[in-house]
Amino acid sequence: MSNKMWGGRFATGPDAIMEEINASIGFDQRLFRQDIAGSIAHATMLAETGILTHEDRDSIVAGLTEVLAEIEGGSFTFSRALEDIHMNVESRLREKIGDAAGRLHTARSRNDQVATDFKLYVRDTIDTLVVQVNTLQLALVTRAEDEAETIMPGFTHLQSAQPVTFGHHLLAYVEMLGRDAGRLLDARKRLNESPLGSAALAGTPYPIDRHMTAEKLGFDRPTANSLDAVSDRDFILETLAAASICAMHLSRFAEEMVIWSSAQFGFVRLSDKFTTGSSIMPQKRNPDAAELVRAKIGRILGALTSLLVVMKGLPLAYSKDMQEDKEVAFDALDALSLSLAAMTGMVGDLVPNRERMRASASAGFSTATDIADWLVREINIPFRDAHHITGQIVALAEQKGCGLEGLTIEDFKFIDQRIDSRIHKVLTVEASVAARQSYGGTAPANVLIQAARWKTELTGQPHEPRPLGKKKHGGHGEGGG
Ligand code: ARG
Repeated sequence: MSNKMWGGRFATGPDAIMEEINASIGFDQRLFRQDIAGSIAHATMLAETGILTHEDRDSIVAGLTEVLAEIEGGSFTFSRALEDIHMNVESRLREKIGDAAGRLHTARSRNDQVATDFKLYVRDTIDTLVVQVNTLQLALVTRAEDEAETIMPGFTHLQSAQPVTFGHHLLAYVEMLGRDAGRLLDARKRLNESPLGSAALAGTPYPIDRHMTAEKLGFDRPTANSLDAVSDRDFILETLAAASICAMHLSRFAEEMVIWSSAQFGFVRLSDKFTTGSSIMPQKRNPDAAELVRAKIGRILGALTSLLVVMKGLPLAYSKDMQEDKEVAFDALDALSLSLAAMTGMVGDLVPNRERMRASASAGFSTATDIADWLVREINIPFRDAHHITGQIVALAEQKGCGLEGLTIEDFKFIDQRIDSRIHKVLTVEASVAARQSYGGTAPANVLIQAARWKTELTGQPHEPRPLGKKKHGGHGEGGG
């Protein structure tokens, strides 16, 4: 049997192994919508420019619409012998409408076709991912408002550093995710040029109108260089880079969930919906969803690495190596989408233990910096000296086995005569966070302002900052439900 697709030049069909390594239909069938949309735009343009008759165009468009319905309805049989989605669709079209189908491929090649299809797919996926990122942001902002006054330890080196508010901590992720959405939209901007009509690599002698197909497919303009158009995969590389950074952020947050939900920390309780039990240890509640989100960065960054390596040695223009772009990219973008959905579910459901967080926040002499700041502010001691004096105060508390709040005024005066009883009011964690009102600082008032700003941005509706001291809900511990 000669080759099904290019029998003219070939005496025999491909080896079975050749068919296996060559076919991409197993994974590129998910491009069917984009492929058919691209073909309809192409056929329409061919008729407008007089390259195709209106009758042929009509039967092509009608036939493609039927093929689309067959694939969507599940009655379409994909064939590996037909290699990929492009040949599968075209071959079915020929079965339906006969010879006119053979005119569809005038002035194009699978090289510009696949670049167009894949770009359209990545563009659609970016749009979905950005909505998902925004949904997660809104879930975090909503929690942050409730936890604007919840005090937790802030860490550096995972050592207690200074008290912060839980709301402030949650809003840190909202900022990261805001940059993630920005990076995805940035990639979308550069992606949005149409390769269609670049043909195999050199352009085409037919009087086609590439601006018309670009516009029909929602592209900003056609690509300006046919060699670049068929050999460029920057759009998926950029998207995977943005996806990797986003996945890294999700992984950091997932790691915190794993730590915080441990019995040793006990800062949050993850809901039954996002945890699993153990088949042997009845007491266990494992944070599996968080752990899996933490792990997904592996395959997402793996896809980016894989594709960069595939691309790095390819001479212009198209090489079949580039077919390896799709499987890993689909997998990575699916993984990011799933991670965003799982994270949004976890954030909505998690129950903070406010008492536990507050108790932990005051451990480890966490308000020591506030003492140093008081010495600077109230008795005009240079910060370096204040730091030294505070060190002696901490050592004394350690020696007495109490916290800074447990020291008497005599204890303070023993270290430095100039200290007076006003020092006591800066020792609490509440005073510590309330004082940090510098722009971007952790003070509850700041958190409420930032939360309102994000709500306004994410919903498109103006939001005023919620007043301080409003009863929070949904947590364990003081002020909680
Ligand atoms: N299945 C191919 C891919 O994904 C389509 C392009 C094939 N082009 C070619 N000249 N063989 O890249």
